[in-house]
Amino acid sequence: MALQFALLDTRLHKRASFSCGIPSLDAYLQQRAGQHQRDGIATTHVLTDDGERTCILGYCSLAAAQLSLHDLQAADRRRLPAYPVPAVRLGRLAVATEAQGKGYGQLLLGHAMNCSLALRGQLGVRVLVVDALDERAAAFYRLHGFRDTAEQALTLYLPLGVG
Ligand SMILES: CC(C)(COP(=O)(O)OP(=O)(O)OC[C@H]1O[C@@H](n2cnc3c(N)ncnc32)[C@H](O)[C@@H]1OP(=O)(O)O)[C@@H](O)C(=O)NCCC(=O)NCCS
Repeated sequence: MALQFALLDTRLHKRASFSCGIPSLDAYLQQRAGQHQRDGIATTHVLTDDGERTCILGYCSLAAAQLSLHDLQAADRRRLPAYPVPAVRLGRLAVATEAQGKGYGQLLLGHAMNCSLALRGQLGVRVLVVDALDERAAAFYRLHGFRDTAEQALTLYLPLGVG
């Protein structure tokens, strides 16, 4: 078994059977993700296993974003210019119920970070930002180094490429 990431291909990947336990995240993949990808709203990256390339183990979606400078914690604001902070938004992250607890959520997060860092060769990206669905999801992001924003309880950010 070799895991791989790919951009969602609506003709290849089986979306209808994906279930992660949160209906809104299943519905996004099934009904919106393809359209958003075609329209330049967000890209959806799926994790699959090369033995069964059509089966989606998990997915995340990414889009360009910005964060108010004042949402960063004081230490992270240092030396930044006084305008909005360029960001990538991790709009959604979900792992199929039967595949949870195997490290795939962590892998998808690492992939989102790598994609964001790769973009820095072409445009400024300072943070990866996420709107957690609830406190349980926020705990997952905090465990992986995300920091709370000052203003919005469930919006968290991860500084990228900072020592
Ligand atoms: C939350 C979710 C993405 C985690 O994915 P996963 O593949 O089950 O998690 P992993 O196996 O990669 O776990 C990695 C680590 O995070 C921890 N973790 C997993 N879910 C957690 C949670 N909700 N809160 C805190 N820690 C969590 C694991 O214990 C593990 O820690 P360890 O490395 O110390 O053992 C997945 O459970 C899921 O899709 N849930 C439903 C949708 C959802 O809540 N999405 C959140 C995005 S808004």
